[in-house]
Amino acid sequence: MSFEIEKNLDQTYVMPTFGRSDVEFVSGSGMTLTGSDGRTYLDFLAGIGVCCLGHAHPAVTAALERQVGRLLHVSNYFYIEHRGETAALISKLANDDMAAAAVLADALAAVSALGSDAAPEVRAAAEQAVAEAAAPGSGEQVWETFFANSGAEANEGAMKLARLWSKRHGNGGNTIVALRGSFHGRTLETVAATMQNWLQDEFRPLPGGFVACTPNDCDELRALFAAHPGEICAVMYEPIQGESGVHPLTPEFMACMEELAHANQALLLADEVQTGVFRSGKPFAFQTYGVVPDIMSLAKGIAGGVPAGAVVAKKEVADTFRPGDHGSTFGGSCLAVAAAEAALVELTRGRYDERAAEVGAYMRERLAELPHVTEVRGAGLMLGAELDAAAGDAHDVVARALEGGAVINATGATTLRFLPPLVCEKSDVDALMGVLEKALGA
Ligand SMILES: Cc1ncc(COP(=O)(O)O)c(C=O)c1O
Repeated sequence: MSFEIEKNLDQTYVMPTFGRSDVEFVSGSGMTLTGSDGRTYLDFLAGIGVCCLGHAHPAVTAALERQVGRLLHVSNYFYIEHRGETAALISKLANDDMAAAAVLADALAAVSALGSDAAPEVRAAAEQAVAEAAAPGSGEQVWETFFANSGAEANEGAMKLARLWSKRHGNGGNTIVALRGSFHGRTLETVAATMQNWLQDEFRPLPGGFVACTPNDCDELRALFAAHPGEICAVMYEPIQGESGVHPLTPEFMACMEELAHANQALLLADEVQTGVFRSGKPFAFQTYGVVPDIMSLAKGIAGGVPAGAVVAKKEVADTFRPGDHGSTFGGSCLAVAAAEAALVELTRGRYDERAAEVGAYMRERLAELPHVTEVRGAGLMLGAELDAAAGDAHDVVARALEGGAVINATGATTLRFLPPLVCEKSDVDALMGVLEKALGA
């Protein structure tokens, strides 16, 4: 279909919830996207932080191809391949135990590499190696996963779990503290948790049970707990607020949230939808702070581009759920967990946490050297660059960068955001800088 026909059909029949750039992408490979006109673009957005291994990564593609011809979906009433394996790997990663995660990832890769003609005893030995690598060590914190389809759905599940835990095991409180400037999704409940007026106002009345706190204001949080004794079941936060401009929480505030939440029988609920899955320089961004949440939500990069989300919680909290308390028809479908296993195995074995930290540090330095850039924020390969007034509107800079052959994003009139695939190399960063220098009018 020609671009003009495609664009016309889209504009006629698709709801106008997104303003689209004037380009149609038809294929991709690694860091590169190809438009329908044959032009190539360097992708520093990765589908908003989704395509963590870039486009058409062979490990994800092979896993999907294998699964497509085997089984797409049977529902959560049955056991399937890849679901438990993926959850086990998430558990090791949540403990930041890269040695244990690597042993499991290697064992999973060895099973995937077996052909259908592998001798039964060879297969049995490879599978036994997975079982051994996945088994919890003595005293090891076990994390359990509920598979969902998106970030908003993961946050819905996480908030339900926090309320249920409080009802069954805590003080019975059902209020959730959410931070001003947060973004937790587009469903009504997650809009209620998204403390930004422009995203909430036209959708009122919103579900109740939320109170707002200013990020990094420990005194305000303390006052909220004092004003709502026994009512608060969770504090919900993005370790780095993404959609509102890449604003990291301070380590002091993280420690304050931990102290106050646990002193008041409330849970820490980290929304790692954007920060998670190796992007921050650690498997999950909370690990850069050393403040461990009780529940975290994941999505975006977790399945290398296939829609998937996850609620991950410490076993003692997760086991609050009983059959029937929560569910999803599609969540954790055969296709999604096959892709998630392949993506997480590759990220673990390739030490993409270290790569994101190293290339991210380089990118940070290079961004800071650009004209009109007054500040660079973020961690690993989740970066925001603040522009001065002379740079003009950041959305225009994004448009000029696209003209120049690079896909980036703006979170507002003054902030450029970068969420490249984690396969990004320093040479890609250098190429982007050439485009940005021109886009910024240097
Ligand atoms: C931190 C955070 N939470 C939740 C969401 C919602 O995720 P989804 O669009 O997959 O529902 C997003 C999306 O950008 C996000 O950045």
